[in-house]
Amino acid sequence: MSVFFIGGIDTDIGKSYATGMMARYLLKRKISVITQKLVQTGVGSTIADDLLLHRKLMGIVPQPRDIDGTTCPQLFKFPASPHLAAARENRTIDLELITEATAVLQREYEIVLLEGAGGMHVPLKHDCLTIDYVAEQRYPLILVTSGRLGSINHTLMSLETAVARGIPIAGLVFNHCCDSNSEIAADALKIFCNELKKYGCDNALVELPRVDENNPVEITFANIFNKGFSC
Ligand SMILES: Nc1ncnc2c1ncn2[C@@H]1O[C@H](COP(=O)(O)OP(=O)(O)OP(=O)(O)O)[C@@H](O)[C@H]1O
Ligand SMILES: [Mg+2]
Repeated sequence: MSVFFIGGIDTDIGKSYATGMMARYLLKRKISVITQKLVQTGVGSTIADDLLLHRKLMGIVPQPRDIDGTTCPQLFKFPASPHLAAARENRTIDLELITEATAVLQREYEIVLLEGAGGMHVPLKHDCLTIDYVAEQRYPLILVTSGRLGSINHTLMSLETAVARGIPIAGLVFNHCCDSNSEIAADALKIFCNELKKYGCDNALVELPRVDENNPVEITFANIFNKGFSC
């Protein structure tokens, strides 16, 4: 399976940082990788802001597939949930366009990291949540979470609903950027490790520290990518 869906327990949880750092890790290992953004809302330029951050973290310039729009075929101005941002422009989210763009990238790259917008239950259309789309496409999920208060609830719910829909769990990225209290973060980490065991994904967790986008450290994501991708 060459496409991984990078979902989050919430918006602003660190999906773009995690996606960019995973792509950086894979690139350093000479794996041909590209990132894609499902839908970008609140855009400031013709290339999705999240893709620009991915490329910066990967240490590469925007790619031809960024410039021709394949890595994010749908951009909307209003910074809101995709269904609402699209409605504001009298449009709807074109899921086929996204799927076709992913297929193009899959033909050109070994691995496609597809970053979602917001959390797993964010609506794309009135009859399709993000999680519905991921389940339909059968993409393995890499869920980005954090150690901040409230993450345990959101994480366990996101994992349980993903598994209930038959989505394979490829891993969990624990973003330390949002930690508010070290005891709370350490406890959440312990709970997540146990939860992953429940789904047969022991050790598929990577801790992500605060990253300087201008001088990223090297983080290993071997726990996620070295285990054959199937939990
Ligand atoms: N590991 C990190 N290192 C440095 N800053 C981070 C990190 N994680 C999150 N941040 C901070 O939190 C903000 C939100 O992170 P990010 O853009 O990755 O979230 P997101 O989940 O991709 O949001 P969206 O749902 O809008 O795509 C960033 O602009 C940055 O300031
Ligand atoms: Mg993002």
